[in-house]
Amino acid sequence: MSHDNLLFSPKTIGQIPLQNRIVMAPMTRSRAINNAPNDTMLDYYRQRNSAGLLITEGTSPSADGLGYARIPGLFNQEQADAWGKIATAVHAGGSKLVVQLMHTGRVGHGLNLPEGKTLIAPSAVAAAGQMWTDQQGMQDHPVPKAMDKNDLERVKSDYVHASKLAIAAGLDGVELHAANGYLLGQFLNPRSNLRTDEYGGSPENRRRYLLEVVDAVVAEIGAGHVGIRISPFNPFNDLAANYDGEEAEYLELVRELANRNLAYLHLIATPGAVPDSAVDAIRKAFPGPLMLAGDFNRERAEAVLHSGLADVVAFGRPFIGNPDLPERLLKNIELNAFNPDALYTPGPQGYSDYLTHAELAAA
Ligand SMILES: Cc1cc2nc3c(=O)[nH]c(=O)nc-3n(C[C@H](O)[C@H](O)[C@H](O)COP(=O)(O)O)c2cc1C
Repeated sequence: MSHDNLLFSPKTIGQIPLQNRIVMAPMTRSRAINNAPNDTMLDYYRQRNSAGLLITEGTSPSADGLGYARIPGLFNQEQADAWGKIATAVHAGGSKLVVQLMHTGRVGHGLNLPEGKTLIAPSAVAAAGQMWTDQQGMQDHPVPKAMDKNDLERVKSDYVHASKLAIAAGLDGVELHAANGYLLGQFLNPRSNLRTDEYGGSPENRRRYLLEVVDAVVAEIGAGHVGIRISPFNPFNDLAANYDGEEAEYLELVRELANRNLAYLHLIATPGAVPDSAVDAIRKAFPGPLMLAGDFNRERAEAVLHSGLADVVAFGRPFIGNPDLPERLLKNIELNAFNPDALYTPGPQGYSDYLTHAELAAA
């Protein structure tokens, strides 16, 4: 193996053997009309099946976690079957598929939820800011209902049910989304979690719900099929960031996760936003497979793999316009730009119509 292509070497994470160390980061693209995957999405994931691992867009385990317009769910058989077809298409290229389970919590709007569903969150605190609704354009985030004990149990069992459906449908695992200010991240953060019961207050209490969900999902599908994504120091979705004790809290969380032998820990470590010293400390606290994301190119990816800082590297935006990203990285082929106006629009334009290098050369 030459010294500068570790990215293209295989690596097994938990129970998931990867053909290379290039991961597609989870990216919401809002193509799931009626919250179920469709043939346009099947095309999109199939086109990218040369990666080691594809992580799906954020996918809700619960009807009341569908806070954004046109995001997919994984709580009924129709959705599970559609995800299963995508897994088959992904496997045909040698890649693997894990579904990112994202309950949006307070980051949502009633107009985006199915009829009769209510926005829920750790506490009745609205996120500052607005969100898109297909019916009425941009709307303020509403004040969510604080989850009671029944809600906590029900949503936890929704995560377990979604994980069970995923494995039964042939996916390789799940990634619990505890980053970027969605439900599990809302429990962790002192601005969105003002609870006075055992799920709020101290850092230990704020991480309790997340760890309960991890343990319940692990008990159902096995630790080797479960990853988790975190984003310390990230103010996205109106979270407190860089608050006193944040790094220590995250290190403690990472140690708890390390004890559980998960398939991987996925850390958003964008340079400039997360101090290098914090990434180093997390690496030391987590001996299992570590995935880093945030502004990677080939050179930086090789550097973190060679130094041992990461075991696999996730690329987000570069995959949008480059379905054949691994080949382009390997051969140092220039990357296609993507159309930022089509990130969240319905339909194939700016989504599944980007060409590979070979297709462009033939055209
Ligand atoms: C269009 C778009 C949608 C995204 N949706 C999600 C998502 O559903 N879940 C998530 O954890 N991160 C999401 N992200 C963040 C990416 O996974 C990734 O962390 C980020 O883009 C940084 O990586 P990059 O610099 O390689 O793009 C999204 C990013 C983009 C650009």
